[in-house]
Amino acid sequence: MVSLTIIDRAGQENSVDALPGQTVMEAIRQAGFDELEAMCGGSRSCATCHVYVEGPALPPPGEDEDDLLDSSDHRRADSRLSCQIRLEQALDGLRVTIAPED
Ligand code: FES
Repeated sequence: MVSLTIIDRAGQENSVDALPGQTVMEAIRQAGFDELEAMCGGSRSCATCHVYVEGPALPPPGEDEDDLLDSSDHRRADSRLSCQIRLEQALDGLRVTIAPED
């Protein structure tokens, strides 16, 4: 299991256990956070799975992810698309904040 802390838009912290191989988006949706829309289902074309991440270092976003994040008014240095982060044990302890809606 990979333990995540998910911070919702109300600022509430929630502990979530996810499986290695799942994406962060899948883990958030499966845990019942419907405020993360993820409209495209993870095909990297909507940016409604925007989150802020802190904790274990992640590889940098690819060009497509970077372009989509640029479309958000709420982009920050720690912004990522949660559907593009595949969980592995090394990401245990990741803290993920659901970004404001655009
Ligand atoms: S779910 Fe659409 S880009 Fe991530």
